Amino acid sequence: MLSDTALPVVKATLPVVGENIREIAQRFYAHMFEARPDLLDGLFNRGNQADGQQQQALAGSVAAFAGYLVNTPDQLPDHLLSRISHKHVSLGLRPDQSEIVHEHLMWAIVDVLGGAVTEEVAAAWDEVYWLMANMLINKERGMYEAVRLSPETIWRTWRVAQRIQETDDVVTFVVERTDDREVKPSLPGQYVSIKLQMPDGV
Ligand code: HEM
Repeated sequence: MLSDTALPVVKATLPVVGENIREIAQRFYAHMFEARPDLLDGLFNRGNQADGQQQQALAGSVAAFAGYLVNTPDQLPDHLLSRISHKHVSLGLRPDQSEIVHEHLMWAIVDVLGGAVTEEVAAAWDEVYWLMANMLINKERGMYEAVRLSPETIWRTWRVAQRIQETDDVVTFVVERTDDREVKPSLPGQYVSIKLQMPDGV
């Protein structure tokens, strides 16, 4: 729940943040990758960076979450948080990485909205960010525990046993484990993140 101080400020600034979310998302990524180019080397999908729609997902979800905090604080969007957490866990994200996104997202909000971001406005959006980030971190901790894995052990090497060309643009890969760890059945809609070496060495 937002504090009594932050609530009216978020309510008043939500429309302007929403209207500018595309630009905020673009500046956020540009600034973050300039400072941390390593994040594009195997964590953030480079293909998604070429796609404006996908770029908006992260910043857009913070704005959407703020809408719930303002309008229906008793019914926060569990489906949204779960989906994001599943994606994060499939990538082995760690709680301490939240600070990176915080720093660059807040920078982008100030950069795009300029003087409208007073100290009070910045503090209110800080609260939104950390409420959401902490809810995600808790969910992600539960998901790691449920499969008895951690960000360090979530990635695993598989051998491609078969490649089946189903149609001109659809390929099925049959993979086999290369260790004696259990293979758990996937759930419908579950994310499966795949990491492989690109031609440029990344
Ligand atoms: C409050 C904090 C955060 C929010 C609201 C958030 C939100 C999102 C959303 C909405 C997606 C897309 C999910 C989907 O495709 O279904 C996503 C994906 C992702 N997030 Fe987060 N995220 C947060 C923190 C972080 C942090 C701290 C990192 C790591 C530095 C991170 C890394 C990623 C990556 C790598 C993806 C996959 C996107 C891609 O490869 O293009 N996120 N996140």
